[in-house]
Amino acid sequence: MTLEIEALDPIGARLHGLELGAGLDDAGFEQLHAALLEHGVLVVPGQPLAMPEQVALGRRFGELEGYEFTLASPNRNVIVITNVGPDGKVMPRDSTAMRAIEINERWHTDSSFREVPASVSIFAAQRVPEVGGDTFYASLRKGWLSLPEEKQAELHGLRAVHDYAEAYRRTGGEIPGMEVQDLTGVTHPIVRVHPETGERALYLSSHTSGVEGMDAEAGRALLDGLLAWCTREPAVYRHRWAVDDVLLWDNRCMLHRAEGFDETHPRRMHHVRVAGTGPVQPG
Ligand SMILES: [Fe+2]
Repeated sequence: MTLEIEALDPIGARLHGLELGAGLDDAGFEQLHAALLEHGVLVVPGQPLAMPEQVALGRRFGELEGYEFTLASPNRNVIVITNVGPDGKVMPRDSTAMRAIEINERWHTDSSFREVPASVSIFAAQRVPEVGGDTFYASLRKGWLSLPEEKQAELHGLRAVHDYAEAYRRTGGEIPGMEVQDLTGVTHPIVRVHPETGERALYLSSHTSGVEGMDAEAGRALLDGLLAWCTREPAVYRHRWAVDDVLLWDNRCMLHRAEGFDETHPRRMHHVRVAGTGPVQPG
């Protein structure tokens, strides 16, 4: 099989001719890796990955994140994101489990609340709704490159406070039993250098409370403005899922957000995250 890379509009690429399961050899993985670094988000359709295969694919990129509080997952390296409850029924939007994943509907990069956030995320679609449930992507590298030089210079050395507790408060208050709310915020540079490509990108998330050392309101206004710039409509790729779609994205230079769940349609996704390296700001 020959790999075919079809560029998507306005960002990302769709791959054909590559099998991501046990059949992926070293040469195939290298092609996948190179395409991910170039395009930021990859869509690979028709990949019925079993959970252990998805975990094995993630391990080829590096060590995986582990989770103590996964929702209904039999594997500590896999987050199951679903609106189907243990009874097989679709859960209402105001249930604890649904509210806990609601913050994914805001633009973010995965695990930015950790000192070492995720590098690569791998999402495998097990069940998709007839309507809704799309995922949106925006490039933080293009966002950075398209800023005027004066604006780029202004951001030099600034650090954003990534604070999930604040993010949960903003989506409507405390959720009982959610350990992530007890985390204290961490700071990351607003401009980071990609550890593999050496390219600069903004590093942003809606899950931020402000900019270190800056007045709270001014810091939030700066971050909101940058986020709005990177995610303006013509710069965004919107993915409509099909069963067995596998998407990979590079959190070091990409933003994403979920559309949210429809209360009547079951949806189930398996999510693996590769642990990255701490964000480094340009010298
Ligand atoms: Fe996410």
